[in-house]
Amino acid sequence: MNMRIHHIGYLVKKMEKAAAEFEKLGYVVTQETVSDDYRKVDICFMEKDGYLIELVCPKSKDSVVYEYLVKRGSSPYHICYETDAFEEDLNSLLDRRYVICSERHEAPALGGRDVCFLIHPYLGMIELLESEGS
Ligand code: NI
Repeated sequence: MNMRIHHIGYLVKKMEKAAAEFEKLGYVVTQETVSDDYRKVDICFMEKDGYLIELVCPKSKDSVVYEYLVKRGSSPYHICYETDAFEEDLNSLLDRRYVICSERHEAPALGGRDVCFLIHPYLGMIELLESEGS
């Protein structure tokens, strides 16, 4: 496996208010809000101390993450791993009881790179992201 941590996905109820609070903690916006119509969310990226967080805010009740937000409130909900060998690592994860919960698709907030979301019974949700240029 060649999976490197890329970002932590963080669900928020209100994008602007959440981003303003993260800024007070020293986070800096690295990418302004982009709309992801596949997942029906707004996404923005912020960074602090080398850690990248992805603020994810559902735009409607049929967004795939709306239920998570209702159940958990604003909170981190996935770690994203970047890989140079997307297919190989995806198959390896599927062999180890990870189940796809959101099929492979292009992520507008990540330059159109492919992502896939998986869930493991002991580990919760992860995101797999193809590396730039792979
Ligand atoms: Ni993510």
